[in-house]
Amino acid sequence: MPVIHLTTEIPGPESRALLARRAAAVARGVPAVTPIAVVHAEGAVLTDADGNRLIDFGGGIGVVNTGHRHPGVVDAVRAQLDRFAHVCFPVSTYEPYIELAERLNRITPGTHEKRTLFVNSGAEAVENAVKVARSFTGRPAILCFEHGFSGRTNLAMALTSKVMPYKKGFGPFAPEVYRIPYPYCYRCTEGRAGGRCCMASPERLERNLASTVDPQSVAAVIMELELGEGGFVPAPEEYVAMLAAFARRHGILFIADEIQTGFGRTGRLFACEHYGLVPDLLTTAKSLAGGLPLAAVTGRADVMDAPQVGGLGGTYGGNPLACVAALAVLDAMEREQIPARAERAGRRIRRRFDGWADRFSCIGDVRGLGAMVGLELVSDRASRGPDKALAGRVLAEALTRGVVLLTCGTYGNVIRVLAPLTADDALLDEGLDAMEAALEAAVSRGSA
Ligand SMILES: Cc1ncc(COP(=O)(O)O)c(C=O)c1O
Repeated sequence: MPVIHLTTEIPGPESRALLARRAAAVARGVPAVTPIAVVHAEGAVLTDADGNRLIDFGGGIGVVNTGHRHPGVVDAVRAQLDRFAHVCFPVSTYEPYIELAERLNRITPGTHEKRTLFVNSGAEAVENAVKVARSFTGRPAILCFEHGFSGRTNLAMALTSKVMPYKKGFGPFAPEVYRIPYPYCYRCTEGRAGGRCCMASPERLERNLASTVDPQSVAAVIMELELGEGGFVPAPEEYVAMLAAFARRHGILFIADEIQTGFGRTGRLFACEHYGLVPDLLTTAKSLAGGLPLAAVTGRADVMDAPQVGGLGGTYGGNPLACVAALAVLDAMEREQIPARAERAGRRIRRRFDGWADRFSCIGDVRGLGAMVGLELVSDRASRGPDKALAGRVLAEALTRGVVLLTCGTYGNVIRVLAPLTADDALLDEGLDAMEAALEAAVSRGSA
């Protein structure tokens, strides 16, 4: 039985009516990536206001690795709601916050003593990781990456690379932020000479910093081991090893931003595991709490304990509903072996993508770790000109066929899959079949 079931055109009349109300009531700056209104979501399936059933390959932007309405999450949140919804952790202690901190301290890379802080969003996690790093080192500067994305608060915007739509008109940005090139092999002019990343050289990084900042005044470097919003670009191992050694030598803390890569997406619980990297601080959010807003900073106890009492926290951070949801997510990660499933799903997706790359010259690159796989679309393989319009057409064609897809990339030309990792093979294949038909239609419409 196919999952996709369309009873109206997409969007149907009910979705269109809600989108019209939305336009009149909601600030324009909040994007509507799809024109559908959702009334129910289960596993990897969305039901829209017109009763259409669609496959969700976007996962609420990587938030439901364990699927929509995971039964463990639903039960845990219901039970907690019957106890209390809020007392404010900085005011009164409750066990789910502590238990979740203990578990993150245990399962994140490294066996050293750790501490965890909970906040509400990825941007806040990044902001707090920087606060902690500055407090511990007494240094002001932060290194971040071209193509990196950290969120929409002021410091997070400063750390974010993509100008449109994230930064245009929103300055001035936080100072003491220094951007270095991301090892984006597909767009590197030198390529991977001899199979090695040309940027994996401390001398090269030192030369780069010589005109921007003294490494001795850098508190931390923040890195996504596979770029998320920046285009699903995994960093080469040798680059990460070089950067980690460079950071250690200069007393610079390594913040691994696992907000999009974390909780099984890359085929491991954390992307750090692919690199043998033990970061000083690790930021998580998105799939941490299976759909409830929760983010965390986990790191070395001595570093995390540097800020003064009262310097960290917030009214809602570590809300008990979100904490019990996250505990249920971590149970599911183990019991349902989500990272291993992601590895298998990733191989399945990758096989299809590689096959498409043989057929469609608009596919410049297929890449990613585990199930965090993307397709970079180009106008032609020689110039590698980013084809954002084609990516937009693929999304639109996929939606009319019942699949919600997302793009990413600084140039908006990468198609990414963030399907729930609980999706079975039949559902994945059905979604991929629709994607393939969408790609064919988008390519032929472009050449018409
Ligand atoms: C790597 C990374 N860091 C930070 C953020 C910001 O998270 P949020 O949107 O929850 O503020 C995101 C969101 O996409 C992200 O992918």
